Amino acid sequence: MKAVVWTKYGPPEGLEFRDVEKPAPKDKQVLVRIHASTVTAGDAGTRSLDFPAWLSVPMRLYMGILNPRNKILGQELAGEIVEVGKDVTRFKVGDAIFAAAGITFGGYAEYVCLAEDAVMAQKPTNMTYEEAAAVPTAGLEALHFLSRANVQPGEKVLVVGAGGSIGTFGMQLAKYYGAEVTGIDSTGKLDMVRSIGAEHVIDFTQEDFTQRDETYDIIFDVIGKSPYEGSLKKLNPHGRYLLANPTFSQMFRGRWTSSRSDKKVILGPAEQTTEALVQLRGLIEAGEIRTIIDKRFPLEQTAEAHRYVETGQKKGNVIISVIPAEGG
Ligand SMILES: NC(=O)c1ccc[n+]([C@@H]2O[C@H](COP(=O)([O-])OP(=O)(O)OC[C@H]3O[C@@H](n4cnc5c(N)ncnc54)[C@H](OP(=O)(O)O)[C@@H]3O)[C@@H](O)[C@H]2O)c1
Repeated sequence: MKAVVWTKYGPPEGLEFRDVEKPAPKDKQVLVRIHASTVTAGDAGTRSLDFPAWLSVPMRLYMGILNPRNKILGQELAGEIVEVGKDVTRFKVGDAIFAAAGITFGGYAEYVCLAEDAVMAQKPTNMTYEEAAAVPTAGLEALHFLSRANVQPGEKVLVVGAGGSIGTFGMQLAKYYGAEVTGIDSTGKLDMVRSIGAEHVIDFTQEDFTQRDETYDIIFDVIGKSPYEGSLKKLNPHGRYLLANPTFSQMFRGRWTSSRSDKKVILGPAEQTTEALVQLRGLIEAGEIRTIIDKRFPLEQTAEAHRYVETGQKKGNVIISVIPAEGG
């Protein structure tokens, strides 16, 4: 089969389009013919191992000290089940699914084997494979934090990093919960952020939200760029500060703040479950959430897609079209 092999940590040139052996499912696995996968900021960071030492050292131990042992990246995907192991009961040949492969990866290929108890569910009927492929990781991340925050109708929610993968799902979920939503991102993304329901937008390249008069019930920082003390000051009493990507020091300070004040700091990482993915499917099929797609790249141009994501221009999601959608 064709796949994009991750040959070394570093720049996108280490992603090579090649022929590799097609996998065969074990007894409790399904074989998925992949239609689409994605390139997230996290995938680009993983490829280059661009993480602080406390994270990159254990990742090297897991993925390979000098070069990556797990050779195919791509942590979320949508496709069709074409074969099932003899003990599989939840899925059958012909099922259209979307899934988070997590750190076993495998999305940049024509086929992947997934355990039947992986974070995987039937694809939303009203989404294309490309749209569905972008939901699992960022959608689950957004759902995890906003459901833990228990957003109430009329509450004011600020999303920091509103125009990216997690942010676009987070904005729509906050609207679904009935919140008044403000999105922060860079200039070129603000029209799109408005288009998915933001009542207010802030351009972080022009303005520091902590210097404005407005206060919020919930601040959801998906990217880890909000100043800790300044953000707490912008929270109303009983406010919640959601940190999807906390720094080491924010993890300690968050626990301290939650135990010593009426404000609660909710920290990552998010839990990914099939039940939550099914919940997202319900919201998608009810028309509450959609996927924002910026660009699509064919599988053979995955390295180019990584380069694009690294420019920081990505609005919403970048798709790897393994089987290009008809007419698209
Ligand atoms: N996507 C996932 O499923 C997932 C899962 C786990 C963890 N993560 C991690 O979570 C973080 C966010 O992920 P993502 O996929 O949503 O990233 P993304 O798609 O790159 O979105 C992040 C957005 O934040 C904006 N931004 C940068 N600095 C900002 C600031 N100071 N204030 C407000 N917005 C700012 C970026 O704009 P510019 O590019 O214009 O600067 C970008 O639009 C990443 O660190 C990623 O590694 C992601």
